[in-house]
Amino acid sequence: MWKFPNPIKHPIPETRWPAAAEAERSLLFQPIEIGKLTLESRTWVPAMVPWRATEDGFVTQENLDWYRRFAEGRPAAIVVEATGVRDIASGPLLRIGDDRFLPGLRKLAETVREASDGHTKLFIQIIDFLAVKRRPDPAKYFEKFLKISQRHREKIAALAKDPGYLNGDEDRARAFLKIAPDEVLEHILDPRELESLRFGYRERVTDTQLAHVRELPQVLPGIFADASQRAREAGFDGVELHYAHAYTMAGFLSALNDRDDGYGGPRENRARLPLEVYRAVRERVGDDYVVGVRFLADEVISGGNRIGDAVYFGVEFAKAGFDYLSLSKGGKFEDAEQPKVGQAVYPYTGQSGYECMPTTLSDKRGPFGRSVSLVAEIKRAVNAAGFTTPIVATGGITTFEQAEAILRDGDADVIGMARQALADPDWFRKVLLGRGDEVRRCTYTNYCEALDQAHKQVTCKLWDRKELEETGVSMAIDGRRRLLPPEWKD
Ligand SMILES: Cc1cc2nc3c(=O)[nH]c(=O)nc-3n(C[C@H](O)[C@H](O)[C@H](O)COP(=O)(O)O)c2cc1C
Ligand code: SF4
Repeated sequence: MWKFPNPIKHPIPETRWPAAAEAERSLLFQPIEIGKLTLESRTWVPAMVPWRATEDGFVTQENLDWYRRFAEGRPAAIVVEATGVRDIASGPLLRIGDDRFLPGLRKLAETVREASDGHTKLFIQIIDFLAVKRRPDPAKYFEKFLKISQRHREKIAALAKDPGYLNGDEDRARAFLKIAPDEVLEHILDPRELESLRFGYRERVTDTQLAHVRELPQVLPGIFADASQRAREAGFDGVELHYAHAYTMAGFLSALNDRDDGYGGPRENRARLPLEVYRAVRERVGDDYVVGVRFLADEVISGGNRIGDAVYFGVEFAKAGFDYLSLSKGGKFEDAEQPKVGQAVYPYTGQSGYECMPTTLSDKRGPFGRSVSLVAEIKRAVNAAGFTTPIVATGGITTFEQAEAILRDGDADVIGMARQALADPDWFRKVLLGRGDEVRRCTYTNYCEALDQAHKQVTCKLWDRKELEETGVSMAIDGRRRLLPPEWKD
């Protein structure tokens, strides 16, 4: 986990919980319009991947149980985890890239409706991502993966003072590289080859030499539109286009995108495909269906987007007609730690990852509401441009007082809580009933995120070893953790 140089350990903030009457009158529990929908309150559970789908992307009973448990807490909205828009193998992550996924997704929408008695609206986050391979064993990389080029041959021949490498057997060049020390490899391999060796091969939206990457602007609008249509058919209340973190659409928005085909370079070009995808989706699902977007208030990487870019995109997205804007921060590959051999690089291990899911081991500012000032800046610009598109703030929001202050100050319209909702999905009901002192407070130390990184079923350390003897408790594959928090009876 990435750390500040001299980190400060912050306590979980003390708070005062409201009585039921105060909660009921509060801004947090007032309704809000999202497109043509009305949310009962301004409470929101943003997308969280729980690693519960089947290997081939279908909804499992464990997925249903997970969302049922969140729905029992009755937040006004839940966003289902990042769900792949394509029909390609991607491990146990949900998919919506073919009609065969519809029955499971339909069941998921029904489950949430039933468990919340229709009080919770359900959106689904849809995502496209490019290839990311595991870090290879170096011997294998040189034996199989590296394409030996004339440039390699020339460099090896010069270093070894042996012209035989220029046209000779490729295996000889591979054998040379296999035993070469790091400084020699740095001289022979180009930066992308070195990255593939040290981090694993990873595609970028700027790899326009690859036909499937070059053609993304032609294919993605249709793929996202098909997926959105399925979301509607499955009974979700809306779709959220995932334009955040380390994935394809965020790659197009990024200041690092220098594609020269009109889809990179200046901001308006970087926003072009994201807007074309939006328009294709809107055309397909109609004006009466919620289409939201999640994007970054700051990429937190060198050369990446900063708040000025996010403000520009926020206004453009509102102008285009998105029904809500949900802000996140960071979560990029560019500053991620080197993975172990055999593992894939994880975009939440560098500083940008810290900013995405900040922990209590922090700098002076601490992890609580760390992105709010950026969200507020985006909201002010969107409102000043004449749009009232609701804006969702997320990141270290944990108490009623904090949520209420954000709304009172006009910094955001909706309050997202990911880890706090995982720690206690009943937060919303408890607070509304005046029983906030019964909330299981998230400690923001990211045990859950470590499970995500290890591709293990996500649980929370505050409840996954509790009351294991209860009848009917379903356990994680490792047999040691319960998959859902114990029930709360009001
Ligand atoms: C286990 C886990 C999985 C996550 N998966 C997603 C995801 O699928 N899509 C997404 O946009 N954000 C994802 N996030 C980020 C959260 O939505 C949220 O932005 C982040 O945790 C910060 O909010 P918090 O401080 O309330 O937890 C995930 C976070 C966690 C802890
Ligand atoms: S595991 Fe830790 S950080 Fe994650 S939800 Fe639970 S208490 Fe919060």
